[in-house]
Amino acid sequence: MTTRKKKSRVIYPGTFDPITNGHLSLIERACHLFDELIVAVAKNGGKNPLFNFNDRIKLIEQTIRRKSFNRNVTVIGFDGLLADFAVKNKAQAIVRGLRAVSDFEIEFQMALMNRKLARDVETVFLMPSLSWVYLSSTIVRDVARHGGDISGLVPRPVWKAFNLKIETKK
Ligand code: COA
Repeated sequence: MTTRKKKSRVIYPGTFDPITNGHLSLIERACHLFDELIVAVAKNGGKNPLFNFNDRIKLIEQTIRRKSFNRNVTVIGFDGLLADFAVKNKAQAIVRGLRAVSDFEIEFQMALMNRKLARDVETVFLMPSLSWVYLSSTIVRDVARHGGDISGLVPRPVWKAFNLKIETKK
């Protein structure tokens, strides 16, 4: 009798305001490790996003469509507790990025809280490429707002969306 191995399904959550090359690096790494990846876009995440909920989802969809790994990646928006979303979507783990030691404390706290809320859902940490450890969505927004070149920091659809925002403001 052959036993079929259960497919691994993980969630990569964030506000993604907007998705950057650092996030993309994490998505690529997670895709190599797991069978299915759900990129979960938080509606609010306690922040006041520049890009609205639908645009943040759309920009990730456009980004992954340009890549060859789109078969096992889906993008879903969520509101409410991440732990509930993970259970509802039958995910075994939450993937989070660790860029520097400074990320660790909050990540550790969130991982333990998520485990308390959903005890079967583990948190897995991955490191983005070294080139992106200094990157955050806030810094990208700030550089763009001041007219700096962000073309090497974000996927092309995001770069276009920023240009559109700047054009419509003129
Ligand atoms: N490359 C580049 N930047 C990265 C990155 C990477 N690999 N990983 C994280 N970042 C950046 C993000 O862009 C973000 O930048 P910003 O603060 O300038 O916008 C920053 O690091 C923090 O990102 P992250 O830690 O992923 O936070 P987030 O706000 O994107 O996501 C949620 C946090 C949505 C996952 C969390 O708030 C959540 O789970 N909310 C749901 C409610 C809930 O369950 N609360 C209880 C949690 S225990």
